[in-house]
Amino acid sequence: MNRDEVIKMTEEFVKQNFDGHDSGHDWWHIERVRRMAKFINEQEAIADQFTLEIAALLHDSADSKFAGNEIESGYERITGFLIKAGLDEIKDQVIEVIRNVSFSKKNPSGNLADPVLLILQDADRLDAIGAIGVARAFNYGGFRNNIFYNPDIDQDIPSTIGHFYEKLLLLKYRMNTLTAKKLAVERHEFLEIFLKQFYKEWEFGTGGKN
Ligand code: ADP
Ligand code: NI
Repeated sequence: MNRDEVIKMTEEFVKQNFDGHDSGHDWWHIERVRRMAKFINEQEAIADQFTLEIAALLHDSADSKFAGNEIESGYERITGFLIKAGLDEIKDQVIEVIRNVSFSKKNPSGNLADPVLLILQDADRLDAIGAIGVARAFNYGGFRNNIFYNPDIDQDIPSTIGHFYEKLLLLKYRMNTLTAKKLAVERHEFLEIFLKQFYKEWEFGTGGKN
């Protein structure tokens, strides 16, 4: 198989795995992350483009939020696929990258300075901020049946606006590459504009921020 065929085969494998996911985690997220990762690497020229593309395609295929305790079997399935696709040479690297790419990853291990990991992390994080980040957050919150805002700060109820403070507003500071740092500025500003308008509307008539 040539590289184009391997990419096609990987796309098919990834698309099979999306049943039941919220649309913040769908094929189009993968497609955007792949394109963004490619762009970042074109600017930075630090990673092998083919390995990066394979890792981008597979990066959410074993996601713990959907696989539950089956996360390890998710990695095994991906390893099996990489062998079948003739990618023995990069299989350990790809698995290590996708194990570490998530923001919520608590016990990172392996080579955390791998350029493939650094770029993929940036691309994934950029897709969680800006207008698309807002759309994905509310979509995910709805999928989880969370309320979108809880104005009572004495109550510790998970909400989508809360997620902005727990994660989204921090991402700008966690970008690895200069290219991603630059792209994060506008997307981060958009989150702040969105929140400002949100509170303005929420407080309407209360004598608060209007
Ligand atoms: P990562 O790619 O770092 O693992 P996640 O899989 O946790 O990120 O999140 C995927 C998408 O779902 C992101 O856009 C993220 O902002 C959103 N998301 C995750 N957790 C929540 C939450 N509790 N409320 C709203 N959106 C969420
Ligand atoms: Ni992702």
